[in-house]
Amino acid sequence: MRRTFSETLRHALYLAHRTAERARYLDALMDGQLAVTGFGELATQRYFIFKAFEESSALVRADPISGRFLFRELDRLAILGDDLAFYHGQDWRAKITPLPVTRTHCLRITELAQTWPAGYVAHYYVRYLGDLSGGQVFRSRMARHRGLTGAGIRFYEFADIPDVDAFRNRYHALLDAVAWDAAERGRVTQEAVQAFTLTNALFEALADRVLGPV
Ligand code: HEM
Repeated sequence: MRRTFSETLRHALYLAHRTAERARYLDALMDGQLAVTGFGELATQRYFIFKAFEESSALVRADPISGRFLFRELDRLAILGDDLAFYHGQDWRAKITPLPVTRTHCLRITELAQTWPAGYVAHYYVRYLGDLSGGQVFRSRMARHRGLTGAGIRFYEFADIPDVDAFRNRYHALLDAVAWDAAERGRVTQEAVQAFTLTNALFEALADRVLGPV
């Protein structure tokens, strides 16, 4: 049976997803070995990524096809600011810097918003839908192992999405019906793999910083 586009995307991301599941940083998070400050380092890097997404989103929203994939309910930037105040204090803006891999990822997101909105959607799908899905696992593990709830982990609260499964189904239906031809769908799929690869590179960089060398 032929795959729908959303199935093709998930299939193409399978290996990268397996790599993420085995990443040293996420392994430590899942096993309760990651300190709250170590988790804060992820929130910090994530801030720059979502800033790149949300500061360039107006360009993509203006695109009649790609714009339909951006949802205000998923916006994370303001919430991330609250989380960073928890980790770094009220002057958190003065205390944070992006890692080189984060800088590379941010540049790519901004470039895509300006030049190829469908490519931006590839990154948006990987990050926003990923955090909505698997991110819930991180939230429950940090609560269970480190008692982290509320401030510091608000990023994973999607207050405006009461039914996550229904939202994901709706998003998949949008992907399946998108007016991109086969070649464009192929390019978007490749870009989604790139987005995942950049995210996995961040986990590697964070493992070295937070957990030390292997
Ligand atoms: C320990 C690490 C991870 C776990 C346990 C995990 C878990 C999950 C789970 C349970 C799902 C839902 C599967 C389904 O119902 O079909 C999912 C989907 C997904 N995850 Fe992960 N995940 C992890 C890491 C990541 C990372 C790092 C990213 C982003 C780079 C990511 C991106 C995605 C995407 C894009 C989907 C599909 C969303 C959709 O189409 O609805 N995951 N993950």
